[in-house]
Amino acid sequence: MTKILHVDTSPRGQRSHSRTLTNNFVADWKNSYLNSTIIYRDIGHQIVPPVSETWIAAAFSPPDTHTPELNTALQLSNELIDELIDCDRYIFSVPMYNFGIPANFKAYIGQVCRVGRTFAVNLQGGYEGLLVGKKMLVITARGGSFPVGTPAASFDFQEPYIRTIFGLMGVTDITFVHAENLAMKGDAREQSLQLVKTKLAALITEWS
Ligand SMILES: Cc1cc2nc3c(=O)[nH]c(=O)nc-3n(C[C@H](O)[C@H](O)[C@H](O)COP(=O)(O)O)c2cc1C
Repeated sequence: MTKILHVDTSPRGQRSHSRTLTNNFVADWKNSYLNSTIIYRDIGHQIVPPVSETWIAAAFSPPDTHTPELNTALQLSNELIDELIDCDRYIFSVPMYNFGIPANFKAYIGQVCRVGRTFAVNLQGGYEGLLVGKKMLVITARGGSFPVGTPAASFDFQEPYIRTIFGLMGVTDITFVHAENLAMKGDAREQSLQLVKTKLAALITEWS
């Protein structure tokens, strides 16, 4: 049985392209693979707090020294990390904001990127990801477009950041599908949405 973690990150609801595309993909996936279990988180609406001074004190000290206050500070972080460990695959829907990711998704990453839980630092000072054997699909929504090989590509801090930070945690098998030109009127937007739908339909078998 495959266990999938589906995370929506857009603060928008029904107007969100990344949510709609991702929800449709997950629904098609469930119909095709009846033995899949989906765990769902909506961090666009149920906001995860950024790390705090108490959180940092707790995350960087041995658990057996923790006071009840330090334990409480890590409670949500532990819950979110346990979910990542428990699931085999992740599907994230992510809007592009200011060429990067929304602040609420950054706050989630702050909670789950934790030494000793999702990555380790080895004796040589290198990083070792602890989320091993996972596959990730990221469906993004963007107002513009950032084609590889063009000057605009250098503005894309969204895909490189997600690849780097999840790679640090051991998730290196990441597939991106970008819905682009969504701020454009007319053909460019519709063509992009059509292309994304075709790519996602193919991924129902290719990502299996
Ligand atoms: C605060 C904000 C910042 C944005 N920044 C960018 C940007 O830097 N580049 C871009 O191409 N689109 C940008 N957009 C457009 C969004 O990426 C686009 O509206 C996308 O559809 C949002 O995702 P959603 O439909 O899932 O909510 C921005 C939109 C908002 C609201």
